[in-house]
Amino acid sequence: MVKGVPKTHNKISRELVGEPVEIIDGKRAVVRLKTTDIMKVDDKGLVHGGFTFGLADYAAMLAVNHPYVVLYKANVKFVKPVKVGDVLTAIAEVANVKDKYYQVEVNVYKNKEKVFTGEFTCIVLDHHVLDK
Ligand SMILES: CC(C)(COP(=O)(O)OP(=O)(O)OC[C@H]1O[C@@H](n2cnc3c(N)ncnc32)[C@H](O)[C@@H]1OP(=O)(O)O)[C@@H](O)C(=O)NCCC(=O)NCCS
Repeated sequence: MVKGVPKTHNKISRELVGEPVEIIDGKRAVVRLKTTDIMKVDDKGLVHGGFTFGLADYAAMLAVNHPYVVLYKANVKFVKPVKVGDVLTAIAEVANVKDKYYQVEVNVYKNKEKVFTGEFTCIVLDHHVLDK
């Protein structure tokens, strides 16, 4: 059961990008993803970085938690490999807000080990990005 209420990305595929655990609007979010076989890129079970990124992106969106938030840019590092079966936890924290721009720091952990770190710039629009 998630602590907090998701206000954005409500139709997202949680089996691909994770389940929200905790949301504090405009401040912080925690999202957990159990990696599965469909995420692997080879016979050794290496997980495609796009899924780790997707988890981190979703956590950034939920840290802002506004219906009209979108991801604008990201600067990321994949620091350790992820293998099928690993359970990942993304912790996203809003570091700075300037006008419509939200700077969100996201770290992803496998147990206590950091596997990914990134800085996400999110924009809160005054309308849905697909509406004129
Ligand atoms: C985020 C977004 C709404 C910003 O649009 P906007 O408010 O009209 O932005 P602006 O026209 O002020 O441009 C913002 C930046 O994009 C850059 N930009 C605009 N068009 C560009 C293009 N064709 N190529 C490269 N950069 C471009 C501008 O130079 C500006 O850069 P800066 O931040 O370094 O100053 C728009 O870029 C967008 O819709 N992006 C898609 C968001 C998305 O779908 N995210 C994934 C789903 S959550």
